[in-house]
Amino acid sequence: MSRNAMIEFGIPQRLYQGSGSIKKLPEILALEKWTRVMLVCGPTLYKTGVIAPIESMIKDSGAEYIVFTHIKPNPEIGPIEEEALPAFREFAPDVIIAVGGGSTLDTAKGIVISGDSGRPILDFTIDKLAQHDRLPHKTPPMIAIPTTAGTGSEVGANAVIGDENGLKLVIRHDAIVPAYALLDPDLLAGLPFSVAAATAMDTFVQALETLTNQNANDFTRTCSLRSLELVGEAIRSFVADPSHPVYADKMSRACMWAGFSLGLAGIGQDHVITHPMGEAPFDLPHGDACGMVLPAVIEYNGLACKDLYHQAYDALTGGHTAFSDFEVQQLIDWCVALNGDLHIAKDKSFEEWGYDGKETLELMMRHPIMKIAIALNEPQGQTEYPRRTGDAEYRKIIERVAIYSKAQAEAAKARLSEI
Ligand SMILES: [Fe+2]
Repeated sequence: MSRNAMIEFGIPQRLYQGSGSIKKLPEILALEKWTRVMLVCGPTLYKTGVIAPIESMIKDSGAEYIVFTHIKPNPEIGPIEEEALPAFREFAPDVIIAVGGGSTLDTAKGIVISGDSGRPILDFTIDKLAQHDRLPHKTPPMIAIPTTAGTGSEVGANAVIGDENGLKLVIRHDAIVPAYALLDPDLLAGLPFSVAAATAMDTFVQALETLTNQNANDFTRTCSLRSLELVGEAIRSFVADPSHPVYADKMSRACMWAGFSLGLAGIGQDHVITHPMGEAPFDLPHGDACGMVLPAVIEYNGLACKDLYHQAYDALTGGHTAFSDFEVQQLIDWCVALNGDLHIAKDKSFEEWGYDGKETLELMMRHPIMKIAIALNEPQGQTEYPRRTGDAEYRKIIERVAIYSKAQAEAAKARLSEI
């Protein structure tokens, strides 16, 4: 059950979801009288022409525009402060249009939050700025056009940006909720298998973790469960063929619903452990790390939230299992099978990604996000996760991640040898 007696929610943006949603762009620019545009997108999307129809719409609207394409897979403060912000301040756009995956949207959010403040992005991280705090400087509105169905950044107040040491910093503020989001499933058509798999897995894990977070409320649980239903119906078929209109639309919506929950309910231990896994020496893509960690986290939390896992299992499978017939192991098995089918983490074990159970475990435990999460779980703190999780418990969960991932890798090798 939720710890909170009061419900907080709101959707402070205009959303268009469905095939052809990007065609709303000229109408929005005209309605808002935005005539100076900074277009932020990844270099590959720009070079391969995916952006061309959007750029044409901006051009045809008569707007003046500049393009920023220096986006890294895990965005870092460096290029944003050295290149994007000077360009933003010189051009002074009315609006930033971000087209791409989570990294692109988070880069654009870094530009937005720093705005015309003249202050570094580091000044706006969650430890220094609360979500609803008023800012003394102007921040531009943003239009988010996602080209993956994953993190749900287009509907959220969160951004993750790395510092010069690769350490991931979190920003959470109302100013970076995009004013408009155009969720057009047609843009997902060209996703490579591994990207479709990892991003879809991120959506799934976010839906499940928001469902079981103790800050969840009626609104977020409704969103999380709807997301899980759509994931269950579409995730495998979508990853097999992201150009399929029905499955792409379902995953686009699954991502949107999980994104709403994420901003309000928060996540769980999976998203804590995946932070160090996304950095050296592992450098696992976020969605792959999410999938790899999930079975062990469910196993640990099962004691505390079997009822919610039961609801999740029924949503994913479209079934109506009697609670008395449900075991948490069924949900774990479902996730293990999904990891195998989606070839999560390239079917490689955590060990094969660089985990040694010794130095690298200590490295993970020293990560600032792990330390913050553990501090919140001290006896005097109020955990928002299903179960209180301290240093010893995180170590145990990580050990189990290594075991589960090894089994996935061995099963994949056995399958290959059968062919
Ligand atoms: Fe995530």
